[in-house]
Amino acid sequence: MSDKRSPSRSTIGRRILAAFAAVLALFGAALAVELVTLHKIAGAESEVDRFDHAKHAGHLAAAQVREQYIHQAHTLIEFGDGHLAHYRAVATVTRQSITSLRGHVDSPADIELVDQIARLAEENDREFRELVVPAIARGDRGAVADLGEKLEEVVDRVVALNGQLNANLEARSMTARERAEQLRDQSLVWTIVCFGLAIAAAAGLGWWLRRTIVGRVESLRRGARRVGVGDLDARIELHGHDELADLAESFNQMAASLAREQTALVRAHRLASIGQVAAGVAHELNNPLTVILGYTKLLRAVPGVHADELRIIDDEARLCQQIVQELLDLARPHRLAVERVDLALLAREAIDRLADTGALRERHVQLLAPGPVVVSADAGKLRQVIANVVLNAAEATTSTGTIIIDARATADQATLTVTDDGSGMSPEVRDQVFEPFFTTKAHGTGLGLAIAHAIVEAHGGRLSIASSGGAGTLVSLQLPTLLREVSPP
Ligand SMILES: Nc1ncnc2c1ncn2[C@@H]1O[C@H](COP(=O)(O)OP(=O)(O)O)[C@@H](O)[C@H]1O
Ligand SMILES: [Mg+2]
Repeated sequence: MSDKRSPSRSTIGRRILAAFAAVLALFGAALAVELVTLHKIAGAESEVDRFDHAKHAGHLAAAQVREQYIHQAHTLIEFGDGHLAHYRAVATVTRQSITSLRGHVDSPADIELVDQIARLAEENDREFRELVVPAIARGDRGAVADLGEKLEEVVDRVVALNGQLNANLEARSMTARERAEQLRDQSLVWTIVCFGLAIAAAAGLGWWLRRTIVGRVESLRRGARRVGVGDLDARIELHGHDELADLAESFNQMAASLAREQTALVRAHRLASIGQVAAGVAHELNNPLTVILGYTKLLRAVPGVHADELRIIDDEARLCQQIVQELLDLARPHRLAVERVDLALLAREAIDRLADTGALRERHVQLLAPGPVVVSADAGKLRQVIANVVLNAAEATTSTGTIIIDARATADQATLTVTDDGSGMSPEVRDQVFEPFFTTKAHGTGLGLAIAHAIVEAHGGRLSIASSGGAGTLVSLQLPTLLREVSPP
């Protein structure tokens, strides 16, 4: 089988791969969208967390400023320095909580608010330490009362600033929460779309596989089953350019070659069984025929009596002997005495012998051979084949007909054709000419072409006939120039 199946024809494999890749890509895209969105949602939620922590830190800082004021008020009520050490510890915690609050905010507006809170807490602490504590030490109750009110005002302002900060943070937290919600909705839509497309693509792929592969495999299976039950004419019609079409083509070639082999096998078996019977009969007939011919010869030597009848007996007995000889030829295994011979020369010898016997009459026989056509073959048997074919041509043409013999060779094959302008043959006759005993002639044996065919096959060659009724016949003999294997018929 010719190797025209190039790798580029592995289309089914490529198509399946591409289809699976598309489905996988869609599932992959769905997964990627899901992962990216989850990542974004996590980001938005962590922002919400951060704002909650900042709000909490703001409340803590405001409460601490109030705590700082409560300890200042404690000192004012006590009007002594007994509570000062405790106050200092609280003031330190207040500073720390404001520093911590600063770490939780990032927008310039919020940073500005935290700075204001820090400045107010610092100012409050400084006024307490630098103005109130010395006034208490001096026992100046009037100044202390004024300063106490001022200190309380700071607390109110810090609470107000924290409220503003809280509102800012709450607004941003809300935005982040809404964004997370939006992302969740979007992710749901995209996931549904991607998975929906992937499922549709998978369903489409399944349908396509069924149509292009399962259905076609079913055709192959039907064809194989028909051949399996002996229908060697079964052929698979698969169109397209893919592996299955290639397979169908190979299958058809296999079925055709199987049919050819089977025909050849049947023919060989038939020849073998005909040969066995024929050889036995021919052998037994040979002896009495020789005796008849011997006595006929003796009687014909005596002149006068029944000369015509004796000639007829002699002719018919010789024809019988020829039939016997041909039968033996057909039955005997063709052991070839192979030598290097020139087909053109053999053709010339065959023509000359036929001419000598007068078989060619007035027919115009032309031998065309541009040069020697050398083959390894059995000279005697090939000459017999050529003589048989040329004699058939002579018998099919009128007594002035034309027979052209052409012999030529290529590097590995030699071809000899015999063309005549005779009666030709119908397709039915054409199909049976190699059958033993098939003849259309009144005195034919029907063995000439059967024997020629067997001899040519024993040489590993081919004998073929092209003809149409009334338009002459072309018999073509093809032989390998180097005989590799010699098989008995
Ligand atoms: N050149 C030819 N032209 C027409 N018919 C032919 C030719 N050669 C063979 N045939 C046909 O093939 C038949 C078988 O030929 P063959 O085997 O030589 O047997 P026979 O010559 O004894 O009939 C012939 O009877 C004839 O019908
Ligand atoms: Mg013949």
